Amino acid sequence: MTAQIIDGKAYAASLRDRIAGHVARLKAEHGITPGLAVVIVGHDPGSQIYVTNKARQTLEVGMHSEKYELAEDTPEADVLALVERLNADPKIHGILVQLPVPRHIDPNKIIATISPAKDVDCFTPESVGKLQIGLPGPVSCTPLGCLMLLRDFVGDLAGKHAVIVGRSNLVGKPMAQLLLRENCTVTIAHSRTRDLAGIVRQADIVVAAVGRPSMIEGDWIKPGAAVIDVGINRIAAPEKGEGKTRIVGDVDYASAVELAGWITPVPGGVGPMTIACLLANTVTTASLINHLQPPKDLTP
Ligand code: GUN
Repeated sequence: MTAQIIDGKAYAASLRDRIAGHVARLKAEHGITPGLAVVIVGHDPGSQIYVTNKARQTLEVGMHSEKYELAEDTPEADVLALVERLNADPKIHGILVQLPVPRHIDPNKIIATISPAKDVDCFTPESVGKLQIGLPGPVSCTPLGCLMLLRDFVGDLAGKHAVIVGRSNLVGKPMAQLLLRENCTVTIAHSRTRDLAGIVRQADIVVAAVGRPSMIEGDWIKPGAAVIDVGINRIAAPEKGEGKTRIVGDVDYASAVELAGWITPVPGGVGPMTIACLLANTVTTASLINHLQPPKDLTP
């Protein structure tokens, strides 16, 4: 069996088209232009590419976009003051402070200062609590993207055994919440799990989010399982030339593709979904701030 490839890039493009439709309706029917502010402190090149892409895609779907690029040595108090100002700004419905921040800034203080109503990353304790008990609000972007792909490609997930490899606040834990809501049986495994291979072999759905290149081997995959690879790992690629690199996931793609029923490639799988879901969350928070029902197709 060769897996069906889950084209996250194409799905994210169609999701952005839907988001643009919701933005146009919010403008035409309610006079609301959803607005997203992204804040970056310092000059990490990877983060800068992400932030530039976020700002560009925000404009492409018709939203209001603000980008704040602060110097590496910006005092913590100045970043907090900017977040407070954005909290109070009626043009802004979503605030994202790109992580990691420089060492002299406490990321938890930044997160605690973001208004939960504008927390499009779903990082604040209030947003995490709402997600856990199923109240409306933003949903962690990468897990939301994984869920949309699973629903669209695999269909009904009820009763399936989902094994999530990775227990981060960003991906593993919120992914478990979302799959529980889909009536999956959920196992969270991690780098210290005993007999990880044996546990992954039981999975109808594998979500790999450990951040270790090609750690999950093809022969760990149950034939026909859905494999969602969240990993983005840069490794040396001497075959491309001296000093060259390439991006691989947490799953050994070449061997897993032979056994899986569905698989997300890296790049081009989960990655493009994360920014699209950030835009989806901004439509959700803009709706909730204005006491409107968020579009059903953008929420779990
Ligand atoms: N850095 C890497 N991924 C993310 C993300 O999803 N949100 C934020 N705020 N920072 C990140």
